[in-house]
Amino acid sequence: MLTVENAELHYGAALALRDVSIEIEADRITCILGRNGVGKSSLLRSIIGQHPLSFGDIRFNGETFTKKFAYDRARAGIGFVPQGREIFPLLTVKENLQVGFSAVKPDQRSFPPYLFELFPVLQDMLHRRGGDLSGGQQQQLAIARALVIRPKLLVLDEPTEGIQPSIIKDIARALVQLRDRGITILLVEQYLDFCRQIADHIYIMDRGEIVHSGKPETLDRSDVREYLTV
Ligand SMILES: Nc1ncnc2c1ncn2[C@@H]1O[C@H](COP(=O)(O)OP(=O)(O)O)[C@@H](O)[C@H]1O
Ligand SMILES: [Mg+2]
Repeated sequence: MLTVENAELHYGAALALRDVSIEIEADRITCILGRNGVGKSSLLRSIIGQHPLSFGDIRFNGETFTKKFAYDRARAGIGFVPQGREIFPLLTVKENLQVGFSAVKPDQRSFPPYLFELFPVLQDMLHRRGGDLSGGQQQQLAIARALVIRPKLLVLDEPTEGIQPSIIKDIARALVQLRDRGITILLVEQYLDFCRQIADHIYIMDRGEIVHSGKPETLDRSDVREYLTV
């Protein structure tokens, strides 16, 4: 569904991605693991159109996306859940969700019916301010906001960061349900447990490069664990 080929990304003179190639297969959960600062967010930024590649290509469903604007990628069906959630604290939960409507046609501006089945807490809190929600609830809101565009590919940057274990379980269950509904998922994580539970395929990054690609079982190998925060 999504291919990144020989990607290089710079911040000024600093190289953050070095010859990165990955393939995201449809209807799977692909997880990119790696420690802090290895380039995970940079790779996602290049995929959603927030930072240009200095070399390489990105293709989505066969179409070249390398130079497309972020809003075109959202319209084409790439939903994004940023690191740190970035919900709007002064808007209500409902208004936060409606922000996603800007990327869809007027006749599609309704909440997907499964949204509140996945995250019932959001229904109860529709009129509360985003900033009044707990960290875990805010993460669920950020995921729901991305789902409002009815994405084909959902991209998440460290969805478990700073979140209590009970809500991490809810998020894991939601992502598996979304995959089973036909939404392809790409997420990056620092910690392997969450990925091992839900991933169909994993990549590991180190210092701007992909250093491993395999099934989640391969995470048990000591040469693989070297690259990770366990
Ligand atoms: N906006 C930026 N300007 C300059 N350097 C950056 C910027 N964002 C990230 N970097 C650098 O790029 C490297 C990769 O960062 P990042 O992609 O955020 O890693 P990760 O998400 O794996 O923690 C780091 O060395 C980081 O300091
Ligand atoms: Mg990051």
